[in-house]
Amino acid sequence: MKLFAYTVSLLLISFSSNSFSASAFAGRAKAAQVCSQCHGIKNPSAEAPFPPLAGRDELYLEKALRQYRNKTRKSDIMNNIAAGLSNRDINNIAEYYTRLKP
Ligand code: HEC
Repeated sequence: MKLFAYTVSLLLISFSSNSFSASAFAGRAKAAQVCSQCHGIKNPSAEAPFPPLAGRDELYLEKALRQYRNKTRKSDIMNNIAAGLSNRDINNIAEYYTRLKP
């Protein structure tokens, strides 16, 4: 019953925010909590050393996050952050950022 209520609320959310699917909505919550501190919601400040994520290719973002997670791509900061992401988080976040207009 709880799960049902949860599903219904996710559906309502996705219908009410027309251009966002439920997964992009979940990605947005995570992005606002964690990623935006460095990457910004849309663009980082001009001088920040952090690459922008908005509007980037979804598969590219997923791949980069998986590589950071399994440490085939090295970055002290991103290896730590990606270590805490589930596959679902990665998919949600990539879907969220790819739909943002830069
Ligand atoms: C403490 C700062 C910080 C936070 C928080 C952070 N990042 Fe990063 N991120 C960086 C830095 C620095 C780089 C560049 C690392 C490198 O050289 O590979 C980077 C690189 C990336 C890249 C590769 C971009 C490219 O152009 O190849 C992706 C994708 C990414 N971050 C996603 C995320 C996501 C998603 C989150 C939230 C879950 C997040 N980051 C949180 C600092 C951060």
